[in-house]
Amino acid sequence: MTSIDWAKVRADFPILAQQVNGRPLLYLDNAASSQKPRAVIESLVNYYERDNANVHRGLHELSSRATDAFEGARTKIARYLGAESAEQIIFTRGTTEGINLVANTWGVANLKAGDVILLTEMEHHSNLVPWQLLAERTGAKLRFVPVADDGTLAFEPALLEGVKLFAFVHVSNSLGTINPAADLCRAARAAGAVTLVDGAQSTGHMPVNVREIGCDFYAFSGHKICAPTGIGALYGRLELLEKMPPWHGGGEMIVSVTYERATYKQPPHKFEAGTPNIADAVGLGAAIDYLEAIGRQNIFDHDAELTARAVHHLAEIPGVRVLGPQKSRGALAAFHAEWAHPHDLTTFANEHGLALRGGHHCTQPLMRKMKLPGTTRASFYFYNTLDEVDRMAEILRAAHRFFA
Ligand SMILES: Cc1ncc(COP(=O)(O)O)c(C=O)c1O
Repeated sequence: MTSIDWAKVRADFPILAQQVNGRPLLYLDNAASSQKPRAVIESLVNYYERDNANVHRGLHELSSRATDAFEGARTKIARYLGAESAEQIIFTRGTTEGINLVANTWGVANLKAGDVILLTEMEHHSNLVPWQLLAERTGAKLRFVPVADDGTLAFEPALLEGVKLFAFVHVSNSLGTINPAADLCRAARAAGAVTLVDGAQSTGHMPVNVREIGCDFYAFSGHKICAPTGIGALYGRLELLEKMPPWHGGGEMIVSVTYERATYKQPPHKFEAGTPNIADAVGLGAAIDYLEAIGRQNIFDHDAELTARAVHHLAEIPGVRVLGPQKSRGALAAFHAEWAHPHDLTTFANEHGLALRGGHHCTQPLMRKMKLPGTTRASFYFYNTLDEVDRMAEILRAAHRFFA
């Protein structure tokens, strides 16, 4: 393993050097959104100060620079995800929009009454509600892979019977479970089902290669991997993208237009109507450069060390139960404290400068299944330190003394 100077890495994040409520900020809400390194912030400033213009349209210098930077970011994403080509990368606002795109294009074109969409019981609302809407529209039915008591999926191939699409989360934002994406995709392919992987919590945290996973679609959000908000990407298998109808109509996505009809460009432009979010795409490209310089395996190993230490501390606090699998866990520890509601606990934490998340984490059905009002979640990224994890534990021990 390469040795990384994590203190130097942390110094790249100006926001972390502040006090909150008179204490040093202890930011452990990274699963909700990550912080941004100076390199990403500067890429935005640089873009707006030097290169800003509309893309694909102008023959002037700035337009060609903006186009190069925008398309360059697409190429970086393709490489980062292990895609065959940049045409397979569609810019979106984030994971939610990527999933909605697939539901509204591939889904509407391919599903009919009685077809089955297979999801899991641990999906974020963004990988549930779009399929509910599609099911209402097409008459398709939803089926769910159960979540076992240890927080893993109780998957069996028989669940794939009659399934046209299997959409599942790579790393659960509520439990931390790392699902065996390649195995699930292999089983789905053998059953003739198309697969979509929600990569919101995996993309910036571990090596991800869409070809090794063998999925048909993979969606992620830039803001969770050090990039700006409002930008993300959807990877799709080219053969499927070429057949899918567009969803938004407008400029940029057409070849020719009459008053009656239009013909469309090839993917990815067919799915990107209107002026895109150029600056933030450039910022996403800068974030990818930044993460690649650190190395995703190094990030994964560092995250794992932080998470293991957090789980260890939490297990020692009376009345605290850490959710999710003991092994193979993403960079988060969500727990139930029998002596405090998650909202009271996160408010207490905030008074000590500690940013945690309390609530249902956009997985209401899973909370209902677990008979919990919600959980409290600490989520980590590579700029967090073991010392911060120890400080979090101290604050939570103080919370136990206060509430219990
Ligand atoms: C597992 C998972 N899927 C999807 C999303 C939605 O991401 P976004 O709101 O960036 O579209 C999130 C965000 O928290 C998530 O954790």
